[in-house]
Amino acid sequence: MKYITAIIKPFKFTEVKDALGSAGISGMTVSEVSGFGRQRGQTEVYRGAEYTSAMLPKIKLEIAVPDGLAESIVEVIRRTACNDEIGDGKIFVYELADARRIRTGEQGELAL
Ligand SMILES: Nc1ncnc2c1ncn2[C@@H]1O[C@H](COP(=O)(O)OP(=O)(O)OP(=O)(O)O)[C@@H](O)[C@H]1O
Ligand SMILES: [Mg+2]
Repeated sequence: MKYITAIIKPFKFTEVKDALGSAGISGMTVSEVSGFGRQRGQTEVYRGAEYTSAMLPKIKLEIAVPDGLAESIVEVIRRTACNDEIGDGKIFVYELADARRIRTGEQGELAL
């Protein structure tokens, strides 16, 4: 299994969520985060306002998937979140050692 974390621009969230909904995922965790990338401090526009702060609002998605689904999910996120601009975001893929559905005790991929 893989654990996919994606940091995307907030205005892309709905589009990415809808694309993921038809891509076979069984769940997702979403958080509001802030961060910076290579241009730290460079101005980006967010909802029409210019941010000069180094920390910009982003949305973090976390999705656990079976190995066979990981590459296609990464590509769905990349394609949908891409606006061809700096700050579009980043996707990190972790090896996921285990999972457990609390209600039933199911384990591994059965718990996803
Ligand atoms: N090395 C990193 N480690 C952890 N989080 C990161 C890292 N790089 C980027 N991020 C997160 O991703 C967000 C978006 O990064 P961003 O897209 O600006 O990356 P970048 O490497 O600067 O690429 P680009 O040149 O396209 O802007 C950051 O605000 C931060 O939350
Ligand atoms: Mg950047």
